[in-house]
Amino acid sequence: MVIFNNVTKCFGDNSGLINASVHIHRGDFVFLVGPSGAGKTTFIRLILKELDPDSGKIVLSGKDITKLPRREIPELRQKIGMVFQDFRLLEKKTVYENVAFAMEVIHKKKKEIKQRVPYVLKLMDIEDKADRYPDELSAGEQQRVGIARAIVNQPRILICDEPTGNLDPATAMDIMSLIEQINVRGTTVLMVTHAKDIVDRMKKRVVAIDKGYIVRDEEGSYGFRQEDSEEELYDPSVGYNPEVNIDSSAMGGKFIEDSSAYGIRSQDFEKSEDNQRDTTSIVDAYLNAGEEFYDE
Ligand SMILES: Nc1ncnc2c1ncn2[C@@H]1O[C@H](COP(=O)(O)OP(=O)(O)OP(=O)(O)O)[C@@H](O)[C@H]1O
Ligand SMILES: [Mg+2]
Repeated sequence: MVIFNNVTKCFGDNSGLINASVHIHRGDFVFLVGPSGAGKTTFIRLILKELDPDSGKIVLSGKDITKLPRREIPELRQKIGMVFQDFRLLEKKTVYENVAFAMEVIHKKKKEIKQRVPYVLKLMDIEDKADRYPDELSAGEQQRVGIARAIVNQPRILICDEPTGNLDPATAMDIMSLIEQINVRGTTVLMVTHAKDIVDRMKKRVVAIDKGYIVRDEEGSYGFRQEDSEEELYDPSVGYNPEVNIDSSAMGGKFIEDSSAYGIRSQDFEKSEDNQRDTTSIVDAYLNAGEEFYDE
C-alpha cells in the first residue's frame, strides 16, 4: 500500500525525515509516534505529495509517486482520506453539506451523493445531526463529521494526524473505535498520535520516529520497555532516554520475530542507516508487478 525506501527530506538544517524505509501493507493499522518535531507530519505530507523527498522512493498502491506528474496529484489524493486534529470543517456548511462537498469537488453524480452521504453519516452515528452546523456540535461529533468526510470517497488509506488531540479521553476512545471499525472493513489506517493510553490499549503496529529517524517498528505499545525490566527505554513523547543502556543485539532478535508479519529483515534501535528496514527489493517487486497485483 505505502512503501518508503530510503526516503530523506530535510529543511535546511532541520531534519524532516532521514533515510526512512517503511512498508505499510494493505489493511494494516499503523500508529506513527514520536516527540514534537520528530518528522511525523513530514512523513504524511510526503505521502500526500505536498512535499517531494530529497532522495529515496515512495510507492503508493504500486505507483512510484516520486515520479508522478503534477497533473496526477489530485487523483493520488483521492486515494487518501485525511482526518485532522482540528477537524477542519467548513463552518458555513451543514454536516450533510460538509460531507457532500468532498464528493462534489471530484464531480460525483448527484444521485450517488444523495445515497452515499446519509450512509456514511449513519456509519458515524451522526445522521440525526445532518442539518446542523459545525459550531452546533460537540468536539467528538465534529470529528465524526471529519471522519465521514474522509471516508465518503472510499479511500484506500485513511491518514489521521492526531485525530483525538482535541478530545477528552472517553470521546477519544469512541473515535478510535470508529477508526478501528473502518480498518476492519478493509481500509488501511495510518495514525499520528501522542495518546499513549490508546496506543498501549490497541496493540497495533507502532512506527516510532525521533529526530527524523525511524527508531522502532513493531507491534505493541507506545513506548518501549525492556523485556526484563519496567524501565522505559524509549518514550516517544520525550525521545531517547540516555540513562538507559540500549542492548540492541538482544532486542534485534526479539523484533525480527515479532515483526515477521511485516516482512522485516533486519531491525535495530540504533539511529544508523544500516538498521533501517530494507524495502528496496519490495519496491522493485511491486513496481514490476503493477498496481493490480499489488492490491489483490
Ligand atoms: N516547511 C518546513 N520548513 C522548514 N522546516 C520544517 C518544515 N516542516 C517541518 N519542518 C521541520 O522538520 C522537523 C519535523 O517536523 P514535523 O512537522 O514533521 O514534526 P512532527 O513530528 O509532526 O511534530 P508535532 O508532533 O509537533 O506535530 C521539525 O524540525 C520542523 O521544524
Ligand atoms: Mg505534526
